[in-house]
Amino acid sequence: MSARPGVSARGGADVNAAGSSPPATPAGAAPTVAWRASEDDGCGALELLDQTRLPHESVVLRLTDVASVRAAIGRLSVRGAPAIGVAGAYGLVVAAQTGPAAPAEFREHLTSAADRLRTARPTAVNLAWAVDRCLDSVAEMDEPTQIRTRLLAEARTIHAEDEAACAAMGRHGATLLRDGASYLTHCNTGRLATAGIGTALGVLITGHDAGLELEVFVGEVRPLLQGSRLTAFELQERDMRGRLLPDSAAAPLLRSGRIEGVFVGADRIARNGDAANKIGTYGLAELAHAHGVPFYVVAPTSTLDPSLDNGDLILIEERAADEVLAFGQARAGPVGFPVWNPAFDVTPAHLITAIITERGIARPPFESALAQQFLGA
Ligand code: MRU
Repeated sequence: MSARPGVSARGGADVNAAGSSPPATPAGAAPTVAWRASEDDGCGALELLDQTRLPHESVVLRLTDVASVRAAIGRLSVRGAPAIGVAGAYGLVVAAQTGPAAPAEFREHLTSAADRLRTARPTAVNLAWAVDRCLDSVAEMDEPTQIRTRLLAEARTIHAEDEAACAAMGRHGATLLRDGASYLTHCNTGRLATAGIGTALGVLITGHDAGLELEVFVGEVRPLLQGSRLTAFELQERDMRGRLLPDSAAAPLLRSGRIEGVFVGADRIARNGDAANKIGTYGLAELAHAHGVPFYVVAPTSTLDPSLDNGDLILIEERAADEVLAFGQARAGPVGFPVWNPAFDVTPAHLITAIITERGIARPPFESALAQQFLGA
């Protein structure tokens, strides 16, 4: 017998009983990524909720050229591996709207736009994956108008698939939660990072929606504050119980015994299960391991990169020194002081308890578990 609706007899989320998944975008909020079709000329624009302005301002960007899409991805107006994949797919549609009429030149224009989009951020494999998938979908076509129509259909499919994958990851992951427990998450992996409810945060949102009473701890995530600006905002938006901590407080928190699990997302997962994610994730994984706390990585299969044997081969994006030498608009360090600002780190597979994808929960050894999930076995 369940203690409350949505809570199973063993105290976890009874997600089936809870019915459908929570909405990706809460009522009245602007979606993270959207395609706005224009009624007059059959063309459209990529709309992005500008995350550099959150949580204080809700500003929607309307982008109609590839340079603007690339720049928006680069400055993190849209961020989070699945969300930049969807934005990259629509970015190619934007490119197709502005190309030359002659088929050969149009093809060249599209290939060069794909290169510019694919390289806007190097670590999240979802970006290159989505752009290449769109390009492949028109490989056999010549006629620009047909190509445009096909690219938009493919981008919309990628968008819808990511939303569905988030809901599925949420349902699988929520079975690992316990009513009344506290969890730690890192960076932002919710609706602002995907086309759905999110990956790691989506699991916690699904549990909350099913009726579990959860407390979500979230680190600030220096230097760009995805934790305090975005995850705290999402928790508040959904009326979830959260608590913000400075990144440097994670060690005593994990030592305290209050945290029952750490849930993080990923930007690229190698064949052996090594997972790249926001800088600071690896440190949390070591701490969780040292204190016997389960460490879960939640990511759609579009984040798996079977071409890489292990995480040492993942290219880690390094970002501008100014992000560290400043705190928002305020200067924090001496101008010109040398900085090392890697945006991601790699958590070795041996520190990961399970990887949750839309196809289920993979446990070590990951190489075979992930291969099976890829094959859908
Ligand atoms: O630099 P960001 O904000 O794009 O980094 C995002 C992350 O590291 C996320 O954890 C990851 O992309 C997974 S998002 C569901």
